[in-house]
Amino acid sequence: MRKFANRYGRLGTETAFAVGADAAAWSAQGNKVYPFHLGDMNITTPDHIIDAALKAARDGKTGYAPGPGIMPLREALAEDIGMSRGLNFTAENISVQPGGKPVIGKFLATLMEEGAEALYPNPGYPIYESQIEYLGGKALPYGYVTTDSGFAIDKAEIESQVTNKTSIIIYNNYQNPIGAESSVAEMKWVADFAKKYDLWVLSDEAYFEVRYSGMSKSIASLPDMAERTVILYTFSKKFAMTGWRLGCAAGPKAVIEAISKFNTNQESCSNHFVQMAGIACLKGPNEPQNAILDQLKLRRNALFDALSDIDGVKVSKPETTFYLFPDVTDIFKRLGYTNSAKFRLDALHETGVSFCSREHFGRPLPGEEKVFIRFAYSGINVDQILEGLAALKGFWE
Ligand SMILES: Cc1ncc(COP(=O)(O)O)c(C=O)c1O
Repeated sequence: MRKFANRYGRLGTETAFAVGADAAAWSAQGNKVYPFHLGDMNITTPDHIIDAALKAARDGKTGYAPGPGIMPLREALAEDIGMSRGLNFTAENISVQPGGKPVIGKFLATLMEEGAEALYPNPGYPIYESQIEYLGGKALPYGYVTTDSGFAIDKAEIESQVTNKTSIIIYNNYQNPIGAESSVAEMKWVADFAKKYDLWVLSDEAYFEVRYSGMSKSIASLPDMAERTVILYTFSKKFAMTGWRLGCAAGPKAVIEAISKFNTNQESCSNHFVQMAGIACLKGPNEPQNAILDQLKLRRNALFDALSDIDGVKVSKPETTFYLFPDVTDIFKRLGYTNSAKFRLDALHETGVSFCSREHFGRPLPGEEKVFIRFAYSGINVDQILEGLAALKGFWE
């Protein structure tokens, strides 16, 4: 029997799904689980969006659609993304995708030569590392340093790695897993760096609209950045539509055309009646989206307060995303752990609280000493947050 292709061996995955399997196995044995591990949502998509999809399906929007997306959705996205980011977009700047995730691989397949280097955040969304390596690039991870208000990009690490083979930087402001948000100065630094080294930028803006106070800003809106930046946009988190699979790539026309060519090669098109629902999202009332944010904010506050109350936990309170990324080094050491998988599984088995650890977000970098874990609060209600965290406090203290 012949072996699998070499390139397949370079494909990574989302190891956080394995944490879900541990939680499911524990639950199947009749145990209570508090699910903080997955970035999925237990909030149902607003009614007007579901109604629009059902109506479109009944109206016969069940066949193939154009590869780059249906024109009214592309136009609505151009308007929405353009207005919220201060960019001048038309439908030609938009390629509709089945979710935000496909933008990562299609962007890299279009713009990263084999053998070229791509900078990407680590800890970060694990698909960056997976797709860079799968597509024959060299993955250059950059980390974050802790600051008084949260986290900042480790600029020195980026500077020390860049070479004349580096052609890409992936930038995930409003960051999964750590909830980090760039200061204005930091975003400008990343933009200046990209221009200095003539890099393409993938700006992963999956959480741009998941914001509890203040205003989001896109790196694409900084001077001379729109021409080198592709925005990953998704309906998943903004409208509680993770399973619908709808998003887009937004960027320079030539790159968008190339990305749409991948659509034709890979999935033909995004589901037509789901695209019709996308229009309803963008043209519909704001209240349902605000209600989702209100609910998430209550959860964030409850989780932040409960975590802060545990002796040995250091945690910051981001204004975006639905993740907290506490430093639990003191507890880890105090309880004599040396292995983060055991630390995680013991917490699950003793308290039912299920979370991811830093290892689920890219290979740890040399010299990392602190122990971080990630709590997602998008799939758990406030009463369950409080109950779970009380159990965790009892176990860890
Ligand atoms: C940082 C980041 N980017 C992209 C995605 C992809 O989201 P989706 O494919 O559901 O739009 C996610 C999902 O969790 C994410 O956390």
